[in-house]
Amino acid sequence: MAERTFVMVKPDGVGRRLAGEVIRRFEAKGLKLVGLKMQIMKAELAETHYAEHAERPFFKDLVGFITSGPTVQMVWEGNGAVDTVRKMNGATNCLDANVGTIRGDLGLSLQNNIVHASDSIDTAKREIALYFDDTELLDYPMPDDAWLS
Ligand code: CMP
Repeated sequence: MAERTFVMVKPDGVGRRLAGEVIRRFEAKGLKLVGLKMQIMKAELAETHYAEHAERPFFKDLVGFITSGPTVQMVWEGNGAVDTVRKMNGATNCLDANVGTIRGDLGLSLQNNIVHASDSIDTAKREIALYFDDTELLDYPMPDDAWLS
């Protein structure tokens, strides 16, 4: 199976009506959408998701922000999906992100940086399992698969 990564549009991305723009960019790149849902996250799930940041001074604000409104969870599949999506998202701080990336083109904030994506294949496995059951992830051919491998 091709590489999979987890992506989440954060409350600022949904609130600024950018969910479609985020999806459009990954689709246009040639990645395949294999899972999609939305939810207003509960604090417990947010704390589990961001457990590696638990000791950071911004942790409370981060959990408050990510639970403050609707979020979109997605799984994208394709060649080098993890690194490709990280590059397309850009640097964590929108002010440092290159023009041409999602954060560089669409944001001005460090915390409210529109989108989250897994930083490694192992993280992707953990994050996908946090939000999706196997039955919610689709395995299907696309007519253009042959041109994108
Ligand atoms: P994300 O890629 O989702 O991973 C952790 C998130 O914490 C990050 O994007 C930012 O939204 C947020 N973050 C990282 N560093 C800081 C910081 N110094 N202050 C506030 N929020 C931060």
